[in-house]
Amino acid sequence: MPNLSTLDHLEKASRDEIAAVQLERMKKSLKHAYENVPFYRKSFDDKGVAPQDLKTLKDLGLFPFTVKDDLRANYPFGMFAVPRGQVVRVHASSGTTGKPTVVGYTKNDIDVWADVVARSIRAAGGKPGDMVHVAYGYGLFTGGLGAHYGAERLGCTVIPMSGGATERQVQLMQDFRPDIIMVTPSYMLALADEFMRQGIDSRDVSLRIGIFGAEPWTDEMRREIEGRFNIDAVDIYGLSEVMGPGVANECIETKDGPHIWEDHFYPEIINPETGEVLEDGEEGELVFTSLTKEAMPVIRYRTRDLTRLLPGTARSMRRMDRIRGRSDDMMIIRGVNVFPTQIEELILKDARLSPHYVLEIHREGALDSLTVRVECCSGTDAPDAQTRASAAQDLKHQIKGMVGVSTTVHVEEPMKLERSQGKAARVVDMRDARTRPV
Ligand code: DLL
Repeated sequence: MPNLSTLDHLEKASRDEIAAVQLERMKKSLKHAYENVPFYRKSFDDKGVAPQDLKTLKDLGLFPFTVKDDLRANYPFGMFAVPRGQVVRVHASSGTTGKPTVVGYTKNDIDVWADVVARSIRAAGGKPGDMVHVAYGYGLFTGGLGAHYGAERLGCTVIPMSGGATERQVQLMQDFRPDIIMVTPSYMLALADEFMRQGIDSRDVSLRIGIFGAEPWTDEMRREIEGRFNIDAVDIYGLSEVMGPGVANECIETKDGPHIWEDHFYPEIINPETGEVLEDGEEGELVFTSLTKEAMPVIRYRTRDLTRLLPGTARSMRRMDRIRGRSDDMMIIRGVNVFPTQIEELILKDARLSPHYVLEIHREGALDSLTVRVECCSGTDAPDAQTRASAAQDLKHQIKGMVGVSTTVHVEEPMKLERSQGKAARVVDMRDARTRPV
């Protein structure tokens, strides 16, 4: 039985050793995809490349990208590289429009996934024997089951709560006294409100650590959550197409961005317009190639997540910066690019405001406009109407100064905005579909 408290050898290995493992696995993964998935065979052939053209890691740049639409076009099981009988589990992303994207796992894939999530929880400060409250949704979403298997693999006691039933979540947290919670940062805030509603001080909870992900969040949000629960808040990243949660995780000792588990998921950063591969440190779109996946290998999968690659610190494996946003979440308001995270940072700097906000895009004549609706803070120091109006004015100025866009800001009374039970929908498009630019 391995000692689950100690790191995997490759987490601390030299860069050369990691690169050697990556190259060997990448060759196998390209060959596996090419030989078993008609989509990859065709896309490689169309580009005039074959798996044996990969001699160094840099040669990966010769191969074509894969995008979400490719997965949709091969719905439901066309991207699988093994006979359906060897697929022991499927998950699917919700997909707001059209068909969902389906992903599959062999028994070995599920094992690797549990290992990387166990590694992630350990990086976050978890250890065997800890009790883990999983409030990510269970079901087709990868969050709940991904966290669950990883926590079990580390030797933790799992409470499979899933999302929702907020009142009950709080009750069971009081009764069971978990050490760790795994949940989206926005739902954690809904839990904080529920503690307050029940008259319980959320700083007295038994929790030591929160492992938050599945949506963009900022360092300001980290401080807010850490303060409200008196815990360490650590970032977990992942996406269904590549595996699920646990593609990367932050280390508790440094809290400086998630380390990518590069022995299984090979990252690149590209210029989203040209596809050119960028150097580490430059911001662009994150692209992943799976190195060990059997059921559904992904080759140069474009995540649409915008970030940059940074050198390893607490581990040898490279880090990614906190995700600034997804290219599809970027709003263009009168020519200015705006990400929800930029606005979140400013909201959380104002003690009069709460972290509950939504951004509405409206259309005025030919131009788009942005309305920020944010709740004021609640409790004994909840501001009066006049203070709310001046907080709105100040936020409007801050956004204009820091982001460069004019907005309408409404500071609402507490509990006016809908609470998320999973991933928060930060942007609401109120434009008439007929007038929306294509
Ligand atoms: O959200 C997997 C997951 C579950 C990750 C639980 C972490 C925790 P999808 O539903 O496929 O999978 O959504 C993936 O969510 O491309 C990012 O845009 C976003 N995302 C995930 N983690 C983070 C994070 C899961 N830590 C998409 N920071 C990704 C920012 C994140 N965005």
